[in-house]
Amino acid sequence: MTTYRWGIIGPGKIAHKFAQGLQSVPHAELHAVASSSVERARAFANEYGAPHFYGSYVELVTNPEIDIIYIATTNNLHYEHARLCLEHSKACVCEKPFTLNTPQLLELTTIAQRQQTFLMEALWTMFMPSVATVKHLIETRAIGQVTHAHIDFGFEVPYSAESRLFSPELGGGALLDIGLYPVFLALHLFGEPQTIQAHMHKTELGIDVDDTIDFEYAQSLNVHIEASFTRNLPCEAIITGTHGQIHMHRMWHCPCKISHINSEGTHDVSPQYSGNGYNYEIAEAQYCIANNLTQSSIMPHSFSILLMRYLDKIYTICS
Ligand SMILES: NC(=O)c1ccc[n+]([C@@H]2O[C@H](COP(=O)([O-])OP(=O)(O)OC[C@H]3O[C@@H](n4cnc5c(N)ncnc54)[C@H](OP(=O)(O)O)[C@@H]3O)[C@@H](O)[C@H]2O)c1
Repeated sequence: MTTYRWGIIGPGKIAHKFAQGLQSVPHAELHAVASSSVERARAFANEYGAPHFYGSYVELVTNPEIDIIYIATTNNLHYEHARLCLEHSKACVCEKPFTLNTPQLLELTTIAQRQQTFLMEALWTMFMPSVATVKHLIETRAIGQVTHAHIDFGFEVPYSAESRLFSPELGGGALLDIGLYPVFLALHLFGEPQTIQAHMHKTELGIDVDDTIDFEYAQSLNVHIEASFTRNLPCEAIITGTHGQIHMHRMWHCPCKISHINSEGTHDVSPQYSGNGYNYEIAEAQYCIANNLTQSSIMPHSFSILLMRYLDKIYTICS
């Protein structure tokens, strides 16, 4: 069985979680780390036992030993770094948000398809058994006809001009950082809405810090979404139908408890989880490469593009 040699671009906060997730996936090895700071790359490589580290990204993408690269730089750099990987025919898994807008993403997916190189958005929740469980419950009408969903994600973050969350240059904002999760869940579970309403509170620099979004569907389904850097929200997804409710409990975007509530009571329907949650996207990427696939059927390019189109639409409504 092949061992997949991973490289990481951008060894920051989330890259640590990813490297820990990698340790629990069979046939996965962290082989090299690249950073704009060779010291940061060295420290990260030492911590996780990676044999190579680089102070430039080009050295990583030109290393013939690397099978697949995970991009964990700030949002503004995803397009540039994914493009660098693709131009060197390196399979690539890129953190969310995939890019800053739809035109950038279309360029990447076009290159990937032309070159037949694997490319996937690392929207970790999509790969979790929790999302598959909830989708199955809805499709089998376990709660009847869905009439309402409330999905939120928010926490109070002290303002800091240096933080990537509040920086226009680094692609900050609540929608791209956390609001993307409820939007993806709504699109994945219910498809495209008929109408959207959205409101944003923005900083003086134009960064959205408090977002409310309503998706209206046919058959009287309303999905209410909140994302905030100014309020501590429950971070839950509550889906209500004519015959019950599905409750994805606090920190629903992580491996979470799931309850199915119907006339007979409350049932814990949480799936079995393994690893730290990042292992699912890693295993999926390796499965795709092992099977010569250029995209994932769980997170296909078409879904990433759909999601990005909706993020663009929401910003346009609120501009
Ligand atoms: N999936 C998840 O659960 C999850 C959670 C949090 C974040 N994320 C995503 O992961 C990405 C990174 O987030 P993070 O919190 O890990 O970020 P971070 O620690 O602040 O930075 C990650 C890397 O980005 C580069 N970087 C940071 N600040 C920069 C600046 N001012 N100018 C240029 N490059 C800069 C650095 O790369 P070098 O070391 O190469 O210089 C740094 O190591 C974001 O796209 C975010 O949306 C995902």
